[in-house]
Amino acid sequence: MQSKISEVKEQFEKELSQTDLSDEQAVENLRLKYLGKKGLLTDLLKGMGTLSAEEKPLFGKLVNELKAEVTDAIENAKEKASEAAMGKKLIASRLDISLPGEGYKHGSTHPLYDIREEVIDFFANMGFHVDLGRDIETDWYNFEALNTPKDHPSRDMQDTFYLSQNAMLRTHTSGTQIHYMEAHKPPIRMVALGHVFRVDADATHAPMFQQCEGLVVDETITFAQLKGMMALFAKKFFGENAKTRFRPSFFPFTEPSAELDVSCVFCDGKGCRRCKGTGWMEIGGCGSVDPAVFENVSIDSEKYTGFAFGFGLDRIAMLRHHIPEISLLTSNDQRFLEQF
Ligand code: DAH
Repeated sequence: MQSKISEVKEQFEKELSQTDLSDEQAVENLRLKYLGKKGLLTDLLKGMGTLSAEEKPLFGKLVNELKAEVTDAIENAKEKASEAAMGKKLIASRLDISLPGEGYKHGSTHPLYDIREEVIDFFANMGFHVDLGRDIETDWYNFEALNTPKDHPSRDMQDTFYLSQNAMLRTHTSGTQIHYMEAHKPPIRMVALGHVFRVDADATHAPMFQQCEGLVVDETITFAQLKGMMALFAKKFFGENAKTRFRPSFFPFTEPSAELDVSCVFCDGKGCRRCKGTGWMEIGGCGSVDPAVFENVSIDSEKYTGFAFGFGLDRIAMLRHHIPEISLLTSNDQRFLEQF
């Protein structure tokens, strides 16, 4: 009987050595042949019935040892076969496993978002209330209450996206002044940040950009305070050496009005291509609130004075980071955004 065991063992070893270990089916067939219900090892155990009581334990032990050996060998062979099958699959597929992975890229905040946060910090630290306003305005808020009647030539300054005869995408954030003054009595210190829309597009003008509007109203507000605050703002955003210049201008809602210029960041005010040789770059408009605007929101223009300003946030980002094209800020090009 024991020689039967050795015979099966030898036969198994021989067959295993002849099996193609990269062939999963061949390995499975081998398993069935030895360990299956009708397998050779099962047969051996069945044959035990013919043995004497003394022979049985030894025989059982030997068969079980062989069974463990065969099971181990088959397990090993199976592992090899499945590895080989995977290798074959990879070779057959067009996946190039030698290509480097793509990895994970670190995100960062958008330069416009950073500027916006800094502007909010700057004014909030000086006690300004921060407002957002709304993208869609009516004629009253965008023009009329800002002292810009229907036939006023300054309406041409801002080509408007109309949604209906009375509703439009706001062309500036100045309408937030009206909303705010309708809802709050002086003293007022507020900034409003948000998108504005104009029919306009070239290297430095986009149809959608962001503005920051500011309004201060109280009994003793002067143009000198506006100048001081704007000079402080310029130094904070463009460095200690930044100079400011107020150029006489016109806006229907301020009187007097000024254009605020900052010394050119590209040439330090010497004059270059970017500042068209002037040494200055415009960042926004400002002025003393026109009494007619106060009358429109029932604020006593005899008692109160105020100043207002409006900057382009995109313009500030462009100057701060020396960005030549405004559209880069909104085109979502990773090669551009990765630099911040
Ligand atoms: N709203 C003006 C524009 O978009 C900018 C501006 C000028 C805002 C003067 C003001 C201001 O508050 O006082 O061009």
